[in-house]
Amino acid sequence: MSRAAAFWDRMAERYARSPIPDMPAYLHTLERTRSLLKPTDRVLELGCGTGSTALELAKDVQEIVASDVSAKMIAIARQKATDQNITNVRFVVADLVGQPECAETYDAVLAFNLLHLVDDIPAALARIHARVKPGGLFISKTVCLSGEGVPFKVKLIKLVLPIVRAVGFAPAVRFFSVDQMDVWVRDAGFEILEAGNYPASPPRRYLVARKP
Ligand SMILES: C[S@@+](CC[C@H](N)C(=O)[O-])C[C@H]1O[C@@H](n2cnc3c(N)ncnc32)[C@H](O)[C@@H]1O
Repeated sequence: MSRAAAFWDRMAERYARSPIPDMPAYLHTLERTRSLLKPTDRVLELGCGTGSTALELAKDVQEIVASDVSAKMIAIARQKATDQNITNVRFVVADLVGQPECAETYDAVLAFNLLHLVDDIPAALARIHARVKPGGLFISKTVCLSGEGVPFKVKLIKLVLPIVRAVGFAPAVRFFSVDQMDVWVRDAGFEILEAGNYPASPPRRYLVARKP
């Protein structure tokens, strides 16, 4: 089992219980995303956690495949789908980085609060690009912990993070700016159609990008 899978397995129950930190920001990007999806769409969500967003969007699309590296997160998500009687979301355990090269393509690929946890973001974006149909969308939200809009306390957290991580209480986190995020997404071959920070500080970069 990867270190990320082990960490998120340990966190899964607590993550499922914890409230969404900024509900207005979450609802704004959820509704923007919903407005961009079509009833005929087949959607892939990466790093779906306990499945809340996939289950929210289920009624707006034909099918969602929602994946996460943590088997415990996926077990909770499957139970929620059963409880809510939602049958068009398929939850699977999969590492974003380990996705097969020539797997199925989707009308939209979603990655919310995931990319800052990935070691090699350009490589991950190349994998994601391969999973989006031509003309399809990549919709992401990523906390950007360097550059403008980042409060001083985040800079302090960056200093202590290696220690917290060493004792198993934090995941590996990448620090980069909003501008860097946009460059990575464009360099992967996407055209950015919409961008905003929700919330603004520290910025969680919401990007709607199209594969030409
Ligand atoms: C901060 S949580 C976000 C969950 C959900 N997307 C949300 O916005 O609430 C990050 C999730 O990404 C998953 N994750 C971390 N690294 C991953 C990887 N390499 N491949 C797939 N999932 C990963 C974790 O297991 C966790 O469920």
